[in-house]
Amino acid sequence: MAEQKSFSSSLGAIMAAVGSAVGLGNIWRFPYICGKYGGGAFILVYLCFVFLLGSVLMMSELVIGRRTQHTPIKAFHHLAPKHKAWGLVGLMGLVTSFFILSQYLVLSGWTTNYIWDSLTGTLASLGTDAGRISDHFSTFSTSGLRPIVFLVVFSLLGLVIILGGVQKGIENVSKVLMPVLVVLVLVLCVRSLTLPGAIEGVKYLFKPDFSLLTGEGILAALGQALFSLSVGMGVMIVYGSYIPTDDRLFKTAMWITASDTLIAILAGVAIFPAVFSCGFDPAGGPGLVYCVLPNVFNTMGGAGVVFSSIFFVLLMVAALTSAISLLEALTATIQAHTGMKRTWGAVVFFALTTLFGVLFSLSIGPLSHVKIAGNTLFDFVDKLNSIYLPPLSALGTIIFFGWFMKEDDIKDELSNHGTVSIGYYQLFRFLARYVAPIALVVVLVSGILG
Ligand code: PHE
Repeated sequence: MAEQKSFSSSLGAIMAAVGSAVGLGNIWRFPYICGKYGGGAFILVYLCFVFLLGSVLMMSELVIGRRTQHTPIKAFHHLAPKHKAWGLVGLMGLVTSFFILSQYLVLSGWTTNYIWDSLTGTLASLGTDAGRISDHFSTFSTSGLRPIVFLVVFSLLGLVIILGGVQKGIENVSKVLMPVLVVLVLVLCVRSLTLPGAIEGVKYLFKPDFSLLTGEGILAALGQALFSLSVGMGVMIVYGSYIPTDDRLFKTAMWITASDTLIAILAGVAIFPAVFSCGFDPAGGPGLVYCVLPNVFNTMGGAGVVFSSIFFVLLMVAALTSAISLLEALTATIQAHTGMKRTWGAVVFFALTTLFGVLFSLSIGPLSHVKIAGNTLFDFVDKLNSIYLPPLSALGTIIFFGWFMKEDDIKDELSNHGTVSIGYYQLFRFLARYVAPIALVVVLVSGILG
């Protein structure tokens, strides 16, 4: 019997969606951009974007998905049968998912390799010499074959979960891995906070420094809010279509948004106090977790191996539950459009995204001379994925939702056919119609000009 394509309960739906939201964006990216743009000042702006815009987009996507019970392109066709062009918004989201997953695989592969390097003592053997540790990272990431092997291993893990199905694969895995993730991050927070001098790191993270909060920082906060909540890519439309009909979408969206934000902040708490305590440079940028943290762990003696393994397992768990949501969105869509079996759809997109991932990985090493518009392939896709595609497809989605979708349909879906109250509706509608589109246009235009 074919498995029913839905989550078994609200809890399962929340776990799966939080799994999608909490990813490298929270643990690898949030801490370093937060440090870069003024700590507490950045967090304040980020919180506004997350709750005023991110959660609104999240609800819109969940509503579109659950109302139509379709994958993105068909969902738009279903809601606007006379204006098929809206399907392009769904398509754009899926293209974005494709490129994000391909790029995500590169970083996830690095993370998988770092688990290996932690467990085998390779990282520990580098000692506390910052030069050796960053050489290790650059030799590894540019070496061609090794990053690819770990990329494929990670990608295969994702495929296996997707082949398990929506409930038995995605939902069950998320129900196990999300609590594990919370425990791991808390263990690291306790370790970090109890190191001597930890308070400096806490100050760095939370003390607002408004002089560092530039226009660029504000745009980064908005981009990060969208990316971190997995919105603007159609993923939440697909997950929305799996949410049980008696689930309260408002509550679910708030749970996802709040959990995602809390975990990002906890990741900062796990990282910065330790970095400060060991006297390292907190402004490590993208290399913070791969170059600075191993150094931190190596100053902890024998226990360092344990904490380093815990950290990279945490990062991989977060990455895995995000990667599967992207693969699921692609798989479900091809299945819906071609009637192809789920297994084959998953294999096709596993193969294609892995292939692109391998190309992006090689572009950091052996293929670094291949350029598009002056960028390596990896940098090019990084720009697409951070500056252009997500805000553009988020903009399309929110304009459709705010201005073209029937209000009765929205209210009916949010109120579970009139059975729950939707006192927040006017505010929500105002944010969806005016605030979100304007903010997204601003981000896009400055991204393109900047
Ligand atoms: N939200 C994930 C993260 O923070 C990334 C992601 C984006 C996952 C879009 C799915 C869809 O890492």
